[in-house]
Amino acid sequence: MTSLPRFRDFRSIVFFTGAGLSAESGIPTYRGRGGVWHAYDFREYACQRAFERDPDKVWTFHERRREVAAAAAPNEGHRIIAAVQAAMPATAIVTQNIDGLHQCAGGARVIELHGSLWRVRCDREGKRREDWTVPLASRRCPCGAAYRPDIVWFGDPLGVETFGEASRAITACDLFVSVGTSGLVTPAADLPLLAARGGAVCVEIDPEETPVSGWYRHHLRGPALEMLPLLRG
Ligand code: OAD
Repeated sequence: MTSLPRFRDFRSIVFFTGAGLSAESGIPTYRGRGGVWHAYDFREYACQRAFERDPDKVWTFHERRREVAAAAAPNEGHRIIAAVQAAMPATAIVTQNIDGLHQCAGGARVIELHGSLWRVRCDREGKRREDWTVPLASRRCPCGAAYRPDIVWFGDPLGVETFGEASRAITACDLFVSVGTSGLVTPAADLPLLAARGGAVCVEIDPEETPVSGWYRHHLRGPALEMLPLLRG
């Protein structure tokens, strides 16, 4: 059995995080028991067509998610990741999470693949604005058009620059640690393959096996809060 890698033995680390990391802060995951997409049909709440059909319904759903995220605090997993980054500045956090908890924990280089609950985007001009107020101060841009959450909904393309930045960090890393993602949503789910092909040591932290588990050399089957400290060693 190969011994577990330790953060200190690497020069450039990428943490690739998903909803399982924030689950321990009380934010529901998307799939699995209690998952958001079991209670809400994404076609009604998380796609551009739904927004155009009924913006208030979509905003009410996202306001609820902002309330849940605002009430949550970063957990020890977010803090360990931020501490590794503080000690090793070449570390990047590539997250699919939209809850802002990495930043709240002090994470610096956070690449948000799926956008953020805390940004709005003018649906006409595309201009973005941060807004951490709950409830949101205004659902309308000063230009008169609707604001929509700056989140990558189903059917939306990923930001080319954001994906490029994530890909570059992953190609350059020597340790890739995935935490709490089901590996079901592409193109994000393809990123571990990029790390593996680039020669990084790849570690998957997740209580469950995932469709991309085969790309990882090490599998830590348990909750993030128990597994991340093992790599600190
Ligand atoms: P999922 O809900 O698909 O998967 C969560 C993963 O976390 C599962 O593999 C669980 O086994 C694991 N998990 C649960 N509790 C955990 C714990 N305490 N510690 C570690 N792992 C745990 O969430 P994501 O993979 O993040 O996109 O979902 C990917 C994307 O699908 C999301 O970004 C979202 C969603 O649709 C958008 O909304 C654009």
